Amino acid sequence: AKEGLCTTPPMGWNSWNFFEGRISDTILRQMGDAMVANGMKAAGYEYIIIDDLWTGGRDAQNNLVPDAVRFPHGMKALADYLHARGLKLGIYSDAAMLTCGGVTGSYNFEEQDAATFASWGIDYLKYDYCNAPQDVSIAFARYKKMGDALKATGRPIVYAICEWGQLKPWLWARAAGGNLWRTTWDLRDVWQSHNDKLTGILEVFDQEEHIAQYAGPGGWNDPDMLMVGLNGKGSSSSAGNNGVGCTPTEYAAHFALWCMLAAPLVVNSDLRQLSAQSLQLLNNKDLIAIDQDTLGRQAVTVFKQNGIQVLKKELAGGRMAICVLNRSDSLQSGQLSLGRDLASSGTFARCHLIFGQKNITAGRMLAYKLAPHACEVYVFTQP
Ligand code: DGJ
Repeated sequence: AKEGLCTTPPMGWNSWNFFEGRISDTILRQMGDAMVANGMKAAGYEYIIIDDLWTGGRDAQNNLVPDAVRFPHGMKALADYLHARGLKLGIYSDAAMLTCGGVTGSYNFEEQDAATFASWGIDYLKYDYCNAPQDVSIAFARYKKMGDALKATGRPIVYAICEWGQLKPWLWARAAGGNLWRTTWDLRDVWQSHNDKLTGILEVFDQEEHIAQYAGPGGWNDPDMLMVGLNGKGSSSSAGNNGVGCTPTEYAAHFALWCMLAAPLVVNSDLRQLSAQSLQLLNNKDLIAIDQDTLGRQAVTVFKQNGIQVLKKELAGGRMAICVLNRSDSLQSGQLSLGRDLASSGTFARCHLIFGQKNITAGRMLAYKLAPHACEVYVFTQP
């Protein structure tokens, strides 16, 4: 909401797709502790974001209050606890009377609620759009009202707009004060959903293709949160694969693609029990550096053929990241020409494999041999 916020995409953890309503002061403190202990904080993750179902309604003065049983110390104490560990606290509300989960929302109480959040030391607000009219001018007005209210508090509060893309928020969310805006319906813990609900990793990824130009420092397209580490054990909202989840190869491609897209990196799994493999992926410094690159460009597709899709993301310092993805269900191999297929000016000579499994062929051709749903990421530098 304020200048200087989200100059790179925000990184953190959100409660929804694993805990849903099972959130509490205890759980959130444990997530913060785990984020510090498992190296995620050092890798750049910082926001602990409480999603829906935290509130116990309003008090006699109409102030929002947390559920008294699950948050017995109040939100300020939780914020203080996380701030003392170098972390930040995010919270959730909705631009209507009721949230998606059916508890109190912020419509008509925008200024009061923004002031409450600021007084608690909140650093991030995810503002949902359930129970609100499907009308772009109403959505803009409601989001701007809260955006202005957050600014008026004087506290830097990241503003995450959660409208799911039907009303094309990439066209107006930045003007409403948004620092990120959801572009699709909820992503499920599945590679491809094979039905008309566009919610698998591939379907959500495809929705980003034509909106790259709207992303940049201060305002990011948000293709929803990371499923890495859920392994089919998420809440009902994230399920989608009969409790199986994605394969390690698919989670790796999911994370790499989200980094190429300059997406917000918001983990959903239980941070207390991440496997070494999930952690290694989520803390991959090279991929995170691509996501967090200061130029702030979202990748664009430069090649698409026979199940192979190649993305290119311009990076600061005249470098570029190239991601080669095998979307198909069979092994694919071939060669890409730097000038013809990767749309480079031809002056890029030095190429480093930073993520993937094989060695580089030098020169002007890039050879690939990719298992189904696998990807490789390279960084090219000028000679
Ligand atoms: C819909 C959003 O898209 C989800 O991420 C989550 O916030 C739920 N609402 C909560 O009810």
